[in-house]
Amino acid sequence: MTTAIHKRSVAVLGATGSVGLSTLDVIRRHPERFSVSGLGGWTNVERIATLSNEFRPKMIGVSDFEESSLRQALPGDLATQIVSGSAGTEYLARQDEASIVVAGISGSAGLKPIFSALSSGKTVLIANKEPLVMCGELLKDVARKSNAVLLPVDSEHNAVFQCLPEDHQTGVSQSVGVAQGLAPRIRQITLTASGGPFLRTPASDLKHVTKSQALRHPTWKMGEKITVDSATLMNKGLELIEACRLFDLPQSQVEVVVHPQSVIHALVHYLDGSVLAHLAQADMRIPIAHALSYPDRIDSGAKPLDIVSISNLQFEAPDLDRFPCLSLARQAAEAGGAMPAVLNAANEIAVEGFLNEKIRFIDIPSLISEVMEKFSPKAPINLDEVLIVDQSARKIACKVLKNTFQS
Ligand SMILES: NC(=O)c1ccc[n+]([C@@H]2O[C@H](COP(=O)([O-])OP(=O)(O)OC[C@H]3O[C@@H](n4cnc5c(N)ncnc54)[C@H](OP(=O)(O)O)[C@@H]3O)[C@@H](O)[C@H]2O)c1
Repeated sequence: MTTAIHKRSVAVLGATGSVGLSTLDVIRRHPERFSVSGLGGWTNVERIATLSNEFRPKMIGVSDFEESSLRQALPGDLATQIVSGSAGTEYLARQDEASIVVAGISGSAGLKPIFSALSSGKTVLIANKEPLVMCGELLKDVARKSNAVLLPVDSEHNAVFQCLPEDHQTGVSQSVGVAQGLAPRIRQITLTASGGPFLRTPASDLKHVTKSQALRHPTWKMGEKITVDSATLMNKGLELIEACRLFDLPQSQVEVVVHPQSVIHALVHYLDGSVLAHLAQADMRIPIAHALSYPDRIDSGAKPLDIVSISNLQFEAPDLDRFPCLSLARQAAEAGGAMPAVLNAANEIAVEGFLNEKIRFIDIPSLISEVMEKFSPKAPINLDEVLIVDQSARKIACKVLKNTFQS
């Protein structure tokens, strides 16, 4: 006897980016399971028009500036609503038709849309880690109140999630106090890091690193911001805070280990000495397919993992002297309150400064550290307060960048 599949409609935010395209590739393979009700892009009109032509969504979102060019680029027979700007993206995130929202926007721009989706009780697949870093507790709170479901898609967090006992998976996804159950049953979780393109680069050479070198990631193909974060190890720092938020763990129970092969994505160390690891190809379609079909399993399109061909798995401690961003993230996690939001805002300004070739690679952690010193970590109690902290940290970061680092 075959069980009928309940078809679900998906809104993909950040559809034109790396996570968005991987999501659509998984959806394309399963037309019997998923339809696309919404597509959100921002500046890439050509790509969103092509995707819209293929997936025929009910609603499309872009930036205010691109709305009229999108209208011209869309096929005439497509009956779809176009929404624009930040408010449009938030509307798209709570669109009635969607039951699943994939959060694939890059950076803090994803915060309000995620808040909007969670407030509307959607199942939210979160790749966009920065909002969880900024105010994960608030997001979980709103999810709890509106019976939304939150599933981690960031590969390491999805890997941890898969290694948790089933009752804890339910706790995490429904945002109900997993802390009481999880923290005493496990010793720690380990997140692995590829180490990025500068894993073996001597400290003295890091000051000469160029933008194009930083954008050459050895194992993952991703957007520019996260690729630079991977090179500074801030990506792992943000993921450390993301893990504390998602799994209700103190930072001391989240370990980071460099594992250049990117085969093991995370490990969960239980109290009895058992360690469960998650192995997979470095392909975002795997965690995305897992979360889209959870608790079922579907083909993601990724190549199977051939364990016989993996002759060597290396693990080493991260070098915190060469990659101070990881220590800054630990400090922010330990300080709590608004400090993770300050760290995130300063990092976004620093990375943008590096990508615009205004500051050097090694200035990124120095700039963040200087901004963090100027803040006291009082906890924001609502979304408006988070946004105020975010804006004032950005302002200070821009000032520090201009006065101290810009050559
Ligand atoms: N890529 C990965 O493998 C990966 C893995 C784990 C986690 N993540 C996380 O997932 C998120 C997305 O990463 P990514 O690599 O997919 O980034 P990306 O390739 O740079 O894509 C970013 C997406 O966000 C859209 N966007 C940018 N600014 C926006 C705004 N203000 N409002 C609405 N949409 C906006 C972009 O639209 P346009 O391109 O049209 O301007 C694009 O679709 C990040 O938080 C990252 O840390 C990524």
